[in-house]
Amino acid sequence: MIDSDNSTAGDNSRIGINTSDQEARSFVSRALDFSRQPTKSNSLYVTLTFAQSLDGKIALPNQRLHLSGPQSMQMTHWMRASHDGILVGIGTVLTDDPRLNARLVLPIDQPGHPRPIVLDPRLRFPTDARLLQNNRDNMPWIVTGPQHDRYRRAELEALGAHVVVVDLCDDMGRPRVSDVLKELAQRGIRHLMVEGGAQIIQAFLESQLVDSLVVTIAPALVGSRGVPAVPASDGIQALKIVPRAYEQFGVDVVLAADTDTDTDQRMR
Ligand SMILES: NC(=O)c1ccc[n+]([C@@H]2O[C@H](COP(=O)([O-])OP(=O)(O)OC[C@H]3O[C@@H](n4cnc5c(N)ncnc54)[C@H](OP(=O)(O)O)[C@@H]3O)[C@@H](O)[C@H]2O)c1
Repeated sequence: MIDSDNSTAGDNSRIGINTSDQEARSFVSRALDFSRQPTKSNSLYVTLTFAQSLDGKIALPNQRLHLSGPQSMQMTHWMRASHDGILVGIGTVLTDDPRLNARLVLPIDQPGHPRPIVLDPRLRFPTDARLLQNNRDNMPWIVTGPQHDRYRRAELEALGAHVVVVDLCDDMGRPRVSDVLKELAQRGIRHLMVEGGAQIIQAFLESQLVDSLVVTIAPALVGSRGVPAVPASDGIQALKIVPRAYEQFGVDVVLAADTDTDTDQRMR
């Protein structure tokens, strides 16, 4: 899903459904219900989104894989423009060097792009990352723990990044999702889009603090070398979801659902 400039999905407009920009916008407004109370005690609405192959893979190991076609990517940029923060893990920054903006639907110098947020406990964020070329008022927030390297922090801040420190971390030095969300809410983020990669998807699913899931399914088989969208993990509970919308974009299908802790809801 991340910033596909050279999609491998081909010219979807010839063989798939040709959705207009207006339809992509309308899908996003049906897919997300920001009027719902966010889950648990969060004051922040979390949308978890990714693109996967038919065999449930989101990437090749340490490799960028373009799964979304141009039309689902356009829809994804409308979704980005609907959130005020977009979060990925440092693994995604190192592999994809994404820009995490909504440039397909908004002029780059206009307001409305989400704040890029990167979870990076060891401050591995590269000093030549494209995110550091963003407009001054939309520079990335890099979320780290208290044990970070002060010199590295100063270097990244000199380049315009904002380093956000979350005090409580696990024994690997990684902040808990719930603490990250509290910190982001205090900094004014209300609607957060989480775009991966695999470890971050796992951490958010384990946290059970996801309000909405939007998954693009691309007609591709990545094979056994691929990185699973949802890795096998003891910590991920079965999730009850309430489907909201689905639509075909080019040859991709996008499914949107609310998560629900209400036991009366059907498990899907
Ligand atoms: N298809 C899609 O929609 C999509 C979207 C995004 C990314 N991707 C792909 O996903 C791959 C990257 O996935 P990835 O799993 O390697 O990296 P990732 O999930 O982007 O980032 C993982 C890193 O985040 C840090 N982290 C911070 N807090 C964490 C927490 N609470 N739990 C877990 N990790 C935390 C850790 O850094 P430290 O190790 O330094 O502690 C960890 O190594 C790339 O190939 C990319 O192309 C695909």
